[in-house]
Amino acid sequence: MKDPAMEIAGLRRALRRHEHLYYVLDRPEITDAEYDALMRSLRELEELHPELASLDSPTGRVGGKPREGFVKVPHSSPMLSLDNALNEEELRAFDRRVAELLSGAGYRYVAELKMDGLSMAAVYRDGRFTLAVTRGDGQVGEDVTENARTIHSLPLQVEGGPAAFEVRGETVMNRRAFERLNLEREDKGLSRFANPRNAAAGSLRLLEPQLTAARRLDYYPYFFLVDGLPARESHWASLEEMARLGFKVNPHRRLCENVDQVLAYCAEWEARREQLPYEIDGVVVKVDSVGQQRQLGFTAKAPRWAIAYKYPARQAKTTVRAIEVQVGRTGALTPVALLEPKEVGGVTVSRATLHNEDEIARLGLEVGDEVVIERSGDVIPKVVRVSEQGSARKPFHMPAECPVCGGKVVREEGEAASRCINTNCPARLKESILHFASRGVMNIDGVGEALVDQLVDKGLAKGLADLYSLTLAELLGLERMGPRSAANILRNIVGSKSNPLPRVIAALGIRFVGERTAVFLAEAFGSLDAVAEASQEDLQRSEEVGPKVAESVYQFFREPHNRDLVERLRAAGLQFTFESTRPKGGALQGLTFVLTGTLPSLSRDQAKELIERAGGKVAGSLSGKTSYVVAGADAGSKLAKAQNLGVRILDETQLLSLIKAG
Ligand code: IVH
Repeated sequence: MKDPAMEIAGLRRALRRHEHLYYVLDRPEITDAEYDALMRSLRELEELHPELASLDSPTGRVGGKPREGFVKVPHSSPMLSLDNALNEEELRAFDRRVAELLSGAGYRYVAELKMDGLSMAAVYRDGRFTLAVTRGDGQVGEDVTENARTIHSLPLQVEGGPAAFEVRGETVMNRRAFERLNLEREDKGLSRFANPRNAAAGSLRLLEPQLTAARRLDYYPYFFLVDGLPARESHWASLEEMARLGFKVNPHRRLCENVDQVLAYCAEWEARREQLPYEIDGVVVKVDSVGQQRQLGFTAKAPRWAIAYKYPARQAKTTVRAIEVQVGRTGALTPVALLEPKEVGGVTVSRATLHNEDEIARLGLEVGDEVVIERSGDVIPKVVRVSEQGSARKPFHMPAECPVCGGKVVREEGEAASRCINTNCPARLKESILHFASRGVMNIDGVGEALVDQLVDKGLAKGLADLYSLTLAELLGLERMGPRSAANILRNIVGSKSNPLPRVIAALGIRFVGERTAVFLAEAFGSLDAVAEASQEDLQRSEEVGPKVAESVYQFFREPHNRDLVERLRAAGLQFTFESTRPKGGALQGLTFVLTGTLPSLSRDQAKELIERAGGKVAGSLSGKTSYVVAGADAGSKLAKAQNLGVRILDETQLLSLIKAG
């Protein structure tokens, strides 16, 4: 066997290289699945060899332990901000001042995009990332090291740099991550972040690094410092050096010979800013020579050798002609303002999102009002405020029925969004099916986005239950579907009928009812019918079910479309009854299992469930407490370790007979 230390080092090296290719250069060489497989091997090896753990391993990006607050840390030199130039004239005035102070010497500028995020310093010692600090008040910031560690484009290890150095740059959230985050927040009844900058700032300062990890931040450095001072004699050279060291330096930088070239750069990116995946609010212009920067010096709050050229806000006034309601993929009803078409920064805008009823109330908006609208990035334009009330204005009311399916619309206590609660509403259907089939729910392998899109668009699935009446011929008629995958999918769908009741309950997609609550409901009521018939008071007798969950469950089963769904699932043969699996001295009581590899018929989740039902425990890694390792195909390092430790190894059949024997 290979030396684990060498194997771990090799995997880390490979993963670092692929992270750089993917997150920094945007030029991956392997598929996501291959990347995941490498990561999995590394994680398994590290679990087996805790003595070889390292903070800067690529596995360390998932986010560490929650903390109570942030520690204040002083900066190595002040993190200043910039003066603004709001138009060409102001930029030319800045240039004249620079020329004057440099008394006739030649100089060049570096023009960079001004990314709209928040600035952060990252400190490296002996090639390792050791500290990250927010700008704070410029003198003292907050230690956000653990959160910054989750940013994939920030290298955790750097080769060939100075022994100690610091980079300063911008932490940003790109627009897609921002939109996704806001959709998730709406779905959870939380308020939206107003813009990606706020979202990035909020994410960097979360007390749970694991949450930051899920937020997908990006980091672009623009200063390279040693002992708090520029590391190279030219700013351009510093940028190039950071890129060479593996940092994600913004590629759209430009060395300019004079202010006209800078202005051309500004104009060019003002026209192209929509094409960028992140938001910019202007251009930062810096004198390139660090010697000249020193000569120019600082005012009280900003350098005299740099300026921010700010793009004008893209706002305009127009009239709200009507308010329409759209139904999103989670069933949320979103009011949209239909506007008198108006050009805003080169694009004609005729719709603007109003998010929800509360937002309309906050704006004090009624149909017929004149409003200020704003475009930021490719995010849907928004209404900023009412500039003048219309003479014949009409208030807006959320409809009581879904405009797509006619189903009932509900707005829960404390929630901003109103929702259509009909699971079969075409607007919601795709998302509902994906949830139904997902891992940990009905576990139907092969039912992913591409398939579900086709099923719904071609009318093969008009409701969740239609999954169970799909035929081989129908599947074969879909794009990119060979006979083998079609047969597999069909087999998986049929196989899912034996999932126990808690999974069926979780699969229905009742709001607030996840896998855990589903188990409690199944245990308390013993059948789906009993859950469906229960009053809100009865429901609350079940463990962990409070008024909010009880109401959601109760309402769900009062919606006729959902009752219909239940009947169709019953007809399809799903498990509607349940015997409590609370281990009462089960066959595997007191035994601890470790699962590894692929079992011939059970999925990992199914095996885990069987073991737990029989009173056993399932652990993630081998230890002295492990009673058995259950090994399937491609078992890998855990199997080898079990053999070394002399732990008994079972295959699937042996596991099943052990359970039966009890
Ligand atoms: S240089 C002392 N370069 O804009 C100079 N800043 O008001 C400090 N920003 O706080 C900044 N992109 O958050 C610089 N390429 C860039 C930038 C940039 C975005 C932000 C940064 C700074 C603010 C300047």
